[in-house]
Amino acid sequence: MESILITGGCGFIGSHFIRLLCAEENFRVVNLDKLTYAGNLENLSDIASGFCFVRGDITDRDLVGRVLKEERPWAVVNFAAESHVDRSILDASPFLQTNIGGVHILLEAIRKFPVKRFLHVSTDEVYGDREGKDAATEESALCPGSPYAASKASADLLCMAYRRTYDLPIIITRSSNNYGSFQFPEKLIPLCIRNAVAGLKLPVYGDGGQIRDWLHVEDNCRAILAVLKNAQPGSLYNIGAGGEWKNVDVVRAICRAVAAQTGHYLEKVESNIEFVADRPGHDRRYALTTEKIRRELGWFPRTGFESGVEQTVRWYLSRPEWIARVTSGEYQNYYDSVYLRTWGKLS
Ligand code: NAD
Ligand code: TYD
Repeated sequence: MESILITGGCGFIGSHFIRLLCAEENFRVVNLDKLTYAGNLENLSDIASGFCFVRGDITDRDLVGRVLKEERPWAVVNFAAESHVDRSILDASPFLQTNIGGVHILLEAIRKFPVKRFLHVSTDEVYGDREGKDAATEESALCPGSPYAASKASADLLCMAYRRTYDLPIIITRSSNNYGSFQFPEKLIPLCIRNAVAGLKLPVYGDGGQIRDWLHVEDNCRAILAVLKNAQPGSLYNIGAGGEWKNVDVVRAICRAVAAQTGHYLEKVESNIEFVADRPGHDRRYALTTEKIRRELGWFPRTGFESGVEQTVRWYLSRPEWIARVTSGEYQNYYDSVYLRTWGKLS
């Protein structure tokens, strides 16, 4: 059986991708994850025997080389990253180390131990703010607006340079904002679900008019799998749902779902919406064209946003112990830095 190396498989999207691989494909799955605050083996507890786990850091050259030498995987899919914009504003260092340095180590390792595919998971944020512009195509210029986006754009450029220089079988996907079960409650949707259920404030940055294109995580994973299996080395695909939502409307949709599923009065849940200090450098709009993946690979998103939010709220309501565990420890410190001390050291 061929093996496939997944990095960052204990995080939000990576764990869904491993679940999809185990359900639909016949690979030996090796999951290399550092288990940062965002990585949790519990995210994979329903398929505990479906993969082999290596705890480690993608910036560890010896370890990455050893895993590739021993496993000789058919493909590497790189999900491992520091993924939260707000944390990159508080401290960019881990973002540069993992998101750029880690990708460099992976690229060097596959030069030494070749694979058939190296799929690098990137983001629509590399195109920067699309306010007043057309939706980004795969050819649009990179114009990142946050330290997180700059680290991801740097990794994309490194991947493209290694493709050209060393002819490596690199493929890049750039998806819009994902949501769904197992997302760490620092991102807008799970944070607001948690707070709405607990009767805490629902913090909307600035005027709440910023726009994101929300994609259900299972739709993204099906797209990544289709790309991995069918795309030509050297290609790049945008992945998005094509629906643009203002943040304040996203938060209202969460309030509706929470009220309907808990029996709380909608007015009471919505009264916790609070417009708070804006994120520094906040990009107002992300938007992608996704004709390429639809035309070439026949992929399309299956989950509509409102039913996806209802399903996601149902999941969080059913997992209070998961929420309690992942928000113990350093979470409260982080939360206070952004929401109580208003951007921590910056203020
Ligand atoms: P996440 O923060 O939930 O998970 C990241 C995982 O990577 C965690 O399990 C963590 O332990 C692991 N990790 C971090 N640093 C590591 C290191 N140095 N070595 C090994 N493992 C390490 O992130 P996510 O939301 O699942 O995002 C996965 C990928 O998708 C990232 O590359 C992110 O940039 C990209 N992406 C995310 C979104 C989104 O909406 N979440 C959208 C587009 C692209
Ligand atoms: P987020 O989930 O952090 O994703 P990204 O920054 O990668 O798009 O944020 C989504 C949007 O919601 C973004 O415009 C910032 C905004 N936001 C809030 O208004 N309040 C919050 O507490 C958070 C975490 C995000």
